[in-house]
This record gives sequence, C-alpha cells and structure tokens, in this order.
Amino acid sequence: MKGIRKAVFPVAGLGTRFLPATKAVPKEMLTVIDRPVIQWVVDEAKEAGIEHFIFVTGRNKGVIEDHFDRQFELEETLRRRGKREALEMLEKDLPQAGQTSFTRQQEPKGLGHAVWCARELVGNEPFALLLPDMLIQGMPGCLKQMMEVYERTGGNVIAVEEVPREDVHKYGVVGMGERLDDRSFRITSMVEKPPVEEAPSNFIISGRYILQPEIFDILAGQEPGAGGEIQITDAMKTLLERQEFWAVQYEGETHDCGSRLGFLEANVAFGLEHPEIGEDVRRMIGKLMAREI
Ligand code: UTP
Repeated sequence: MKGIRKAVFPVAGLGTRFLPATKAVPKEMLTVIDRPVIQWVVDEAKEAGIEHFIFVTGRNKGVIEDHFDRQFELEETLRRRGKREALEMLEKDLPQAGQTSFTRQQEPKGLGHAVWCARELVGNEPFALLLPDMLIQGMPGCLKQMMEVYERTGGNVIAVEEVPREDVHKYGVVGMGERLDDRSFRITSMVEKPPVEEAPSNFIISGRYILQPEIFDILAGQEPGAGGEIQITDAMKTLLERQEFWAVQYEGETHDCGSRLGFLEANVAFGLEHPEIGEDVRRMIGKLMAREI
C-alpha cells in the first residue's frame, strides 16, 4: 500500500457567497484569529505527515503563493527590531524549499475540474484532498484521523459528518455499509444534494478525502453535473464501482468558512480555544450577550 505524501488544495473558486469581501482578497486568505484560513488547513495536512502541498489557484489568487514564500524585507525589519518570536513563527509556518507547487485552473468549472488540474503534479499515487474553506477543529486533526483508518483499509477514505436529516439536500451524502469500528464504515453509495426522502443516510461528505490516482482518468471524461459544474462526487461514484471507499466520522467541529455565518462561527470557536486570548474571548462574548437589545 502506498503512503500519502501529497495534498491538493483547490483554491480557484470565486467565493461568491462572501462578496464583497472576496472581490480582491481570496476567501482562503481571510483570517480566522491571526492566520489565513488556508494556513490552518495546511497546518492540518502537515500534522498528518504531508510532505508536498499542491495548490490549484486561479486569477487574483497570487497572494496565496506569496503567503507561502519568504518576505525578505519584513524579516529584515523584524530582525533589526529584535522581534524574535514573530520571526520564529514565520519560519515555522514556511514550507521548505520545493515542498509547494502551484497550478492554475483557468476557468472555475467546478471542484472536480480543479482536482483534475493537479493530475500531473500528483502523478500515479494516492493523495489527500482538503477543501480549504472547511475548517475542522479536531484533536488530532481530521486528516490525521483519516490516515489512521487509511493505514488499515487502503482504498479511498472520506471524512463524513452527521447532520439533521432535513439538511441533507444541501450536501453530498453517503450510503452506509458494514462498520469497521465505531467511527468508520464502508461506503456503499454517494449522491450529491439528494431530496430528503431519497438520501441514503444523514452522513454528509465534509471536505477531506484520501483518493486513489484512478480518479483522474474518470475526471478527464466527467460531464458537468449539479450547477453545471464538474463535480468530484460524480467521479467518486464511478470510482466506487471499482474500488473500496471508507467513511471516517472524525472527532471535531466543522466550520464552513465559505459562508458568512460559518466564518464568524470559526472565529468565535477558534478564539475560545486560543491559549492566549481564549479567556478574554469568553468574557467578551458574555459582555456582548448581556447587552440589552
Ligand atoms: P465552493 O463551491 O465552496 O467554492 O467550492 P466557491 O465556488 O468559491 O464558492 P461560492 O459558492 O462561489 O461562494 C469548494 C472549494 O473548491 C474550490 C473553491 O476554491 C473551494 O475551496 N473550487 C471550486 C475550485 O478550486 N474551482 C472551482 O471551479 C470550484
């Protein structure tokens, strides 16, 4: 069984749900506390042992590439001013030379198409796929929890989350087969945004995947699906006819940073957990809640 060395981060979407914030700033660069959303997700991948970070970017996303590069002037100024802690933090976050790759999705034709754009950079090996607008607060991180299952099962692994039945029509939903243990099970079917009465379960696909490279051949011929976009779920459905898929009910909380409410929730949730400002955030929320409206 081949290990997972590479992770793909599709960051070419337009972020229309978050306009006007995303007009000039990619949504992946909006900050949760003091780190851009994309940095949190790269940290999760690093923790899981990923060695190569592949970003599928688009127009106006150059700042993401800059974020993962050195900033000589800034570093020099910090050095002159004796700001050792800030310097060390920048150093720690910086991927090593040669550990990042960037490719462009020239048109936002959908998530499946964005993943296909990474095919040459991934090559013939299994890889992780992380949707950077989904922030998952887990200990250990969600991808690390998935790696533990992958080491036992091989094949393809998807992170799933249980939602109220009436919400399933908004998401990709998986059908449930035999249990591996109390947190993972075999996937028997997948369906994108099903009507509630047709949903095979209330477990939704939630933005983290470990996929075998055969997905690229399927994506190459994939017709547009829901919303006129090339959907990764449609390609995974075809792959499911040939290979095993396993679901991991990860321990952790998910925040959809592509929506206004989810983004706000992420800031509050990460703020509450923060070792330095957590207590103050709690007090601040208490104060705001006590206000007369
Ligand atoms: P989303 O559908 O959440 O992103 O895709 P979006 O299209 O930017 O959002 P809205 O609906 O317009 O607000 C999930 C992930 O897939 C990427 C996005 O950048 C996001 O990280 N994506 C989506 C692409 O890279 N290319 C695409 O064509 C579509």
